[in-house]
Amino acid sequence: MIKAQRGTKDIFGEEIATWQWIFENAKNVFQNAGFNEIKTPIFEATELFNRGVGDSTDIVNKEMYTFSVGGAEKNETSITLRPENTAGVVRSFIEHNLNRQSPPQKFWYFGPMFRYERPQAGRQRQFHQAGVELFGIKEPSADAEVISVAINFLESLGLKNLTVELNTLGCPKCKNDYRESIKKILAPHLKDLCNDCKMRYEKNPLRILDCKNENCQKIFEKDEIKKVILKDYICDECKEHFSELKNYLDELNIKYTINKMLVRGLDYYNRTVFEIKSESLGSQSAVCGGGRYDGLVEMLGGVPTPAVGFAMGVERLYTLTEKVKPKKIDFFVVSNDTTKAMKLTQKLRYNNKSAEFDLQKRKFAKQLEKASKIANFAVILGEDEINKNYYSLKNLATGEQNIIKTFEELINLS
Ligand code: HAM
Repeated sequence: MIKAQRGTKDIFGEEIATWQWIFENAKNVFQNAGFNEIKTPIFEATELFNRGVGDSTDIVNKEMYTFSVGGAEKNETSITLRPENTAGVVRSFIEHNLNRQSPPQKFWYFGPMFRYERPQAGRQRQFHQAGVELFGIKEPSADAEVISVAINFLESLGLKNLTVELNTLGCPKCKNDYRESIKKILAPHLKDLCNDCKMRYEKNPLRILDCKNENCQKIFEKDEIKKVILKDYICDECKEHFSELKNYLDELNIKYTINKMLVRGLDYYNRTVFEIKSESLGSQSAVCGGGRYDGLVEMLGGVPTPAVGFAMGVERLYTLTEKVKPKKIDFFVVSNDTTKAMKLTQKLRYNNKSAEFDLQKRKFAKQLEKASKIANFAVILGEDEINKNYYSLKNLATGEQNIIKTFEELINLS
């Protein structure tokens, strides 16, 4: 038997109602906040992610689904299934000159992403993200706007007991000072760091702080190292930006904790970074990750444009939310006359009612049994009903049955 690939999942049956409900909530909350939906392709040029997400990240180094298409004689191109959607939205923003519209330009998306990770609870190889990206505003009001939209969405799903972790990475200049200090203090311990950290030490030392390896964690706990990690390297302008953001969040009554170790796993961030976590999720606790990426549009060839956004893991949201019961259809037409049942069903559907009928000419009792499982009402078209031109309508919740004379009456009753 051919099975679904490891780390992928079929979503169907009872799960669908909850998935659709999550999507509808995302759509409502994001559109109410003025974000417009954007659907970008699922595959992009590999170079977009190499440059956009960054070649020192785990995503680019280990997790991309990359393949060549076209064959050698047709100028073979390397394409990659999107591991995330910020780079794709930025590519689209640049390609369609969206910077010419007045800022802010605000987008939301919902769709599958692909990362070749080791599957475990809360971590898949094909997963879904719901996210937003806001372009054109450097002020911290945009950071607050994006965080409050994230909270809004999570609350619309009835999620509580989540913690918002916040940090600032500063501008390229502060980041550089911080990076150099981290390198200096860790230099004597380089041989004891894990292989990934050895590579990060050269390419992007800040990412070392994100390492989950126990040995590395122990090294970070050493007093002299911890002091350097926790020291403030942020310049006055970045400090002001961060403190304004915190004021806005306080005013909005959004609770947060500052986590100086929060550096995020993608290279494009500067200044604000944040994650929203739930303890009930176990080790993969982040439902949302985001932050500011003021340099990315320019780095990918566009006009310099500040930007900020986030993405949420929909599978993780699904685990946390109460499940929605599938809705019953309005009518099940019960009849031995398939043609009449088919025609009435079609008429009901044209009148915006959900309706089904029996496709197999089963006995009345069997049809009624099926009806009571999936519908609110059974419309009975027996011999008498057909001859005398009326409907018997059975309320399947109460068992009450009534005679209905016209079609109009029927559709107004349900
Ligand atoms: P990220 O932190 O890599 O950020 O992913 C965001 C969220 O996607 C995570 O918090 C998690 O809920 C979910 N997620 C990530 N990987 C997996 C996986 N393998 N299985 C299940 N869920 C997963 C980004 O992707 C950035 N593009 C977010 C962003 C948007 N920053 C600015 N704008």
